[in-house]
Amino acid sequence: MANAIVDLRVLGVIGTGDFGLAISKRLLRAGYNVIIGSRFPEERDLAKRDQIFAGVDVVSIEECIKTATMLVFAIHKKHFNSLLEFQDILSGKVVIDVSNQDKRDRNESNAEYLASMFPQTCFVKAFNVVSAYNMENIGYCTEEKRVYVASDNPEVRHVICEMVKLLGFVPVDMGRLRMSRGIEKMPIRLFSGWGGSFLITLLIFVVWFIYAVFKFYVRMKIYDGAQFPLKVLNKPICMTAITLLAITYLPSSVAGMTQIYYGTRHKRFPRWLDKWLKARKSLGIIALFLIFIHVMMSTLTMGPTYYPDFYVFKSILLSTNKSELFLYQPGWMLWQAETAMFLGIIALMLLLILGLTAIPSVAHTLNWREWRFVQSGCGHVALFFCIAHAIFRGLPNWAKATKKVHVLDSLAFLAVIIPVLTLLFKLFMIMPCIANHLHKIRQGFDREDSMDSKEESTSKSHDRKKFRRKKKSKERDVFTHPPVADLQDIP
Ligand SMILES: Cc1cc2nc3c(=O)[nH]c(=O)nc-3n(C[C@H](O)[C@H](O)[C@H](O)COP(=O)(O)OP(=O)(O)OC[C@H]3O[C@@H](n4cnc5c(N)ncnc54)[C@H](O)[C@@H]3O)c2cc1C
Ligand SMILES: NC(=O)c1ccc[n+]([C@@H]2O[C@H](COP(=O)([O-])OP(=O)(O)OC[C@H]3O[C@@H](n4cnc5c(N)ncnc54)[C@H](OP(=O)(O)O)[C@@H]3O)[C@@H](O)[C@H]2O)c1
Repeated sequence: MANAIVDLRVLGVIGTGDFGLAISKRLLRAGYNVIIGSRFPEERDLAKRDQIFAGVDVVSIEECIKTATMLVFAIHKKHFNSLLEFQDILSGKVVIDVSNQDKRDRNESNAEYLASMFPQTCFVKAFNVVSAYNMENIGYCTEEKRVYVASDNPEVRHVICEMVKLLGFVPVDMGRLRMSRGIEKMPIRLFSGWGGSFLITLLIFVVWFIYAVFKFYVRMKIYDGAQFPLKVLNKPICMTAITLLAITYLPSSVAGMTQIYYGTRHKRFPRWLDKWLKARKSLGIIALFLIFIHVMMSTLTMGPTYYPDFYVFKSILLSTNKSELFLYQPGWMLWQAETAMFLGIIALMLLLILGLTAIPSVAHTLNWREWRFVQSGCGHVALFFCIAHAIFRGLPNWAKATKKVHVLDSLAFLAVIIPVLTLLFKLFMIMPCIANHLHKIRQGFDREDSMDSKEESTSKSHDRKKFRRKKKSKERDVFTHPPVADLQDIP
């Protein structure tokens, strides 16, 4: 090695910003010897900020690089150039790049950019998905917090993975440095995979919204603008919620039917079905969110003025000198209305339990059977209660339906059509003759005429060819990482 390695256990952190200090603290707590490199070491009295830094050397960047074998670059990409002057002394060192992209760069990751700037240095991408706050917070050691590690040197990757564990995180070995393109995108993704569910929600909402506005303002002319924010808007919101809930539970039956049709489980689902199955979590959570809004809106407006069809009206006869006057006085709620409320509350509670088990830390406490019991079992029961709630909500009006005001005009009636069909479909799928056959298919049984064997074997041979090509390219792909110091002794 061209550069003398003073102490293999010394880790140099370049940068005294939020992340630099946070990772330094974490490393110190884990027992590492940390040395901090700054442009202005004399101005950085870190011990004054936190006692943990008492005795920690804050030195120039140059000295830090010279002293440590392994370094953390806790600086922004735009400042990478300022380190070019240290190219020589960085040669043979291992550098952990924690940077995130300020702007999306499709072609190159920050880590690859650094590797091209310092060809004699071994770069590792790690820790960029952890915020400075979480890095610093000592109690923060959850099983789910993953740290993705990428480097062209497998040995270095292994050492960094061990370090990640020591710091209280879960390492995920992502392979070569080019994988950092994806790793750097992780923290800047905005609700990845939720786009389709949001779009579906919007489409369903627009349809129900147009229908409700048409009914209330054009056809029946029963409300004016004042009732729009709560009374009118509540309708498309609850209808969207129950429709979303139904389409959360519909795809499993569609998938089952598709497998029966194919006669095998080895044929891939069509892309749209695959996407639909994957979107169930987001669809369910959006449904729960809308149901909450519906509950709050309904609670605020609950009363005989807003919901006259929920209440029993007593007529009081007032006799004056000249005439008799009937005064209508609201009394108790109708039994149908009380039942509707009760069913709605049960549905909400069940969905809340589902929502809780969607939280990864809660999901981890459940085994597969418990999770399925809640998600699939309680989910379907919740859908049933939602339907029952809507039916009891609509009953008083349906009873009064005439030729002029038809049942089909009832929003509650329209809203339950898809959910009822979903439940019926599910009931059909769990009928013993269907369920047993499906179970056999899912256990690996293939119907004779099932697989399009030709298609399947073509795709298999295609896969084999692909694998061979990959293997060849891997063999060609000799590691080009620069030489690094012996890392065995690093804690
Ligand atoms: C508030 C809320 C939160 C939600 N959170 C989540 C969440 O965190 N994660 C999530 O995934 N969904 C979530 N959902 C969506 C939904 O609850 C689950 O996807 C649920 O598991 C769907 O149940 P299902 O019976 O329709 O389908 P499934 O549970 O997928 O399966 C139906 C049947 O098919 C069988 N089966 C399915 N695939 C196979 C196979 N390949 N081989 C053998 N058997 C198979 C199952 O054993 C089961 O008997 C949430 C929904 C709501 C409302
Ligand atoms: N903050 C987070 O939550 C977080 C999370 C994950 C990843 N990251 C990544 O960590 C890196 C640092 O983030 P940060 O939040 O710590 O940033 P910051 O607070 O702005 O600190 C950056 C530090 O870089 C040092 N530096 C070195 N050369 C520099 C130069 N030429 N010009 C300016 N500063 C220079 C400075 O320390 P001196 O003044 O002592 O030289 C400065 O304090 C970034 O790449 C970021 O993407 C941050």
